Amino acid sequence: MFSRVARPVLGFGRSLSTTPPSNARVAVLGASGGIGQPLSLLLKNSPVVSHLALYDIAHTPGVAADLSHIETRAKVTGHIGAEQLPEAVKGCDVVVIPAGVPRKPGMTRDDLFNTNATIVANLTEACARHSPTAMICIISNPVNSTIPITSEVFKKHGVYNPNRIFGVTTLDIVRANTFIAELKGLDPARVNVPVIGGHAGKTIIPVVSQCTPKVEFPQDQLEALTGRIQEAGTEVVKAKAGAGSATLSMAYAGARFVFSLLDAMNGKEGVVECSFVRSEETECPYFSTPLLLGKNGIEKNLGVGKLSAFEEKMVAEAMTELKASIKKGEEFVKNMK
Ligand code: NAD
Ligand code: LMR
Repeated sequence: MFSRVARPVLGFGRSLSTTPPSNARVAVLGASGGIGQPLSLLLKNSPVVSHLALYDIAHTPGVAADLSHIETRAKVTGHIGAEQLPEAVKGCDVVVIPAGVPRKPGMTRDDLFNTNATIVANLTEACARHSPTAMICIISNPVNSTIPITSEVFKKHGVYNPNRIFGVTTLDIVRANTFIAELKGLDPARVNVPVIGGHAGKTIIPVVSQCTPKVEFPQDQLEALTGRIQEAGTEVVKAKAGAGSATLSMAYAGARFVFSLLDAMNGKEGVVECSFVRSEETECPYFSTPLLLGKNGIEKNLGVGKLSAFEEKMVAEAMTELKASIKKGEEFVKNMK
């Protein structure tokens, strides 16, 4: 049943690598967690990863031993505790960070700030010191603040390159594709809808008017769809009833983003993903839009494109919250000892 010759990357319709295997070294920081473990499994299954370095404050020796028995080429190393962090990130092409606490029912993503800001600042400080040219992909919430935190940390160390720092919002796109496909009876693997803005509630802005294939909804249905995409994280938090937030779909989305990035770094042309990044496309200093990826990260920001009046209104309404979350992240690093 399993062909040893033609074993594909696990079911990634849209990001199945067509480029030759590379020698990418990828680190996952927070590798023992609900996202970290399945994300590491997907990365281990990829022929483009040659070394997978797993870091966490707990359980990484076990996770690494377990994954290392899988018959794929990536060498797996486990690193535990702050003293082993430099070794984990050294020489990495890509560092993915899903470390930090998840929401419980009734919490907003911003309620995670007090705990996760410190975790992200400490981890990205190690990246700035020991892997300053790696692509940094931040999953930890609140993404609208953890990306500005990462940027400020890199600035502090004099190694800031905005083209290499990404807030992973891919799960919003994955959800939008799935929900639209369900409503229209389409194959989700063929649906592509950009989601712009940020990654929290009203800052998540699906651009259904730019969906391919073209889809149309009556306004009430469009508003219900938009609301479901914006609150999809909360839908999972409620369903898990205190046991955390999205982990498996996030691992899929995180792997999709990393594989796209690695494909582009390997020279594949035309790779586009949305991500929350430093931006000059709107009045907001960080904003998610479709990005053309290349060897050095962001090759070109493709901007927001043509928006409907409904989408323009959502962008305008997201600005105050987005700017406040960004400022909060920037101030946090300025006030760090
Ligand atoms: P989890 O609690 O299951 O796992 C978190 C892991 O981080 C744990 O293994 C923990 O030991 C580790 N950790 C804690 N402090 C650390 C440190 N200083 N260094 C290294 N590792 C550390 O949580 P989870 O469900 O995997 O979620 C992780 C984060 O991802 C949360 O902040 C969550 O809100 C966020 N998230 C983001 C998205 C997104 O779309 N960007 C989607 C889902 C979840
Ligand atoms: C998500 O969108 O699933 C994540 O941001 C986790 C959360 O807290 O909702």
